[in-house]
Amino acid sequence: MKNEIRIAPSILSADLVRLAEQVEQVLAGGADWLHVDVMDGRFVPNLTFGAGMIAALRKLTDKPIDVHLMVVEPEQYIEPFAAAGASVFTFHPEATIHVQRQLDAVKQRGMMAGLALNPGTPFTYAEEVVKDLDLLLIMSVNPGFGGQSYLPAATEKIQRARALLTAHRARCFLEVDGGISRQTIGAAHQAGADTFVAGNAVFGSADPAREVQELRRRCRDAGGVPV
Ligand code: DX5
Ligand code: ZN
Repeated sequence: MKNEIRIAPSILSADLVRLAEQVEQVLAGGADWLHVDVMDGRFVPNLTFGAGMIAALRKLTDKPIDVHLMVVEPEQYIEPFAAAGASVFTFHPEATIHVQRQLDAVKQRGMMAGLALNPGTPFTYAEEVVKDLDLLLIMSVNPGFGGQSYLPAATEKIQRARALLTAHRARCFLEVDGGISRQTIGAAHQAGADTFVAGNAVFGSADPAREVQELRRRCRDAGGVPV
């Protein structure tokens, strides 16, 4: 998977009245994964989707469903989200007491296990469990809402994450989430990210399919570190 790029449109920014149509559009544009932001109104000040949404999307596509849980006690959702058809289950370390146990439980249930680091979250959380990770998500905004601006400090954190994964020869996706656009995707890729969440950039555009293609093109043009 050398220099492979994954684009994961976030349905948080989709027009929910036309969700099936919007999903078809991004899949037609070559979207690799669908990103689903689960928020509980406690870990972040917003409330969004649950297992019902994952099951609905699963009826629309066989592509990986990349679930990002911004919730307290993510362990409560491992079983129902696996049953609903989630592929990647990513949670925040501050939200649970036994991070490594939950990573194991996610994998036991047949999903890929991801850990998400907020802009202010110490990087050591990832270092402690690097061998248990299928995905490391670097947040480039403080989570809760779509349409925020990319925080430039994320670029350096992505570089540290790439160095960590390389040092451990980890087979692990390195994802970036928040403010990814035509303007920011290149820098994130050059820093070492290989998987890109994009909400507003894709669904806020007049042509979501074309935007997915354009993000991939910009990413390829920027070139990235070999992964
Ligand atoms: C932010 C979410 C993101 C969000 C990204 O809390 O985790 O996945 O949908 O949206 P954009 O790409 O608009 O910043
Ligand atoms: Zn997200």
